[in-house]
Amino acid sequence: MPMTLLPESMPVSKKSMPELGPRLLTAASLVRRGSKVADIGTDHAYLPIYLIRNNISSKVLACDLRKGPLDNARENVIRAGCENEIELRLSDGLDCILPNEADDIIICGMGGTLISDILSRTDWLKNPHYRLIMQPQSHSDDLRRFLFNNGFVIDDEIPVCDEGRDYVVMNCRFADDYWDKDNELKTHFGSLLHNTDDISRRIIGRTVAYLKVRRESEKEYGDKNLSDLFKELIIQAEEILNES
Ligand SMILES: C[S@@+](CC[C@H](N)C(=O)[O-])C[C@H]1O[C@@H](n2cnc3c(N)ncnc32)[C@H](O)[C@@H]1O
Repeated sequence: MPMTLLPESMPVSKKSMPELGPRLLTAASLVRRGSKVADIGTDHAYLPIYLIRNNISSKVLACDLRKGPLDNARENVIRAGCENEIELRLSDGLDCILPNEADDIIICGMGGTLISDILSRTDWLKNPHYRLIMQPQSHSDDLRRFLFNNGFVIDDEIPVCDEGRDYVVMNCRFADDYWDKDNELKTHFGSLLHNTDDISRRIIGRTVAYLKVRRESEKEYGDKNLSDLFKELIIQAEEILNES
């Protein structure tokens, strides 16, 4: 995509980029040094700029579904002087990315259901070469379920608190020799269940509270079997929490 030049009055300062917060810093820490990166839903392009400025990556595709965010990204990229290393691209998910254009794929700040939909349309990701770095904003259970059912493995889930909100950043890959069962406990809690840090505990507590609400609503109006499943999950999670 051709770059538009900034108006002459716009100051070009390499110091004007905000510092990355812990959430995006954690995602950046999972990028393999020297890899080509695609940042899907880049918005402001702060993460691509950080990766280039810190010599973590030499080439980043900063992609977004909408023109508005991409225009903001373009201004930031030019201000940062990274226009040779960061290419901006209008793309719905990975629809406009070729398999040889990225090694590490970052998808942060979108709901887990939307991330799953994006992954499901991109068959070439089913290759252990690619690393998927994802931070679901909500519905992380939908994302885990998709991953477990489609041959992906979650190597790491890192809990992180940013401006008073708790998040999980996932590091995943396709593993054709590995097939995880759709285990409901893991789907809802991931690997956080055995962690003892405060952030993981808070996330688990919130997930238990959410399951309790869903259990009640299924019991009253919906699927009795689902209500029983949620009850079982709550008991198992609380047992593990009380043990540790
Ligand atoms: C909340 S922002 C997240 C920005 C950044 N990734 C972060 O985590 O701070 C979500 C961005 O994803 C973009 N987006 C939403 N759906 C998308 C899709 N299907 N493909 C690409 N980008 C999408 C939105 O336009 C928006 O810029």
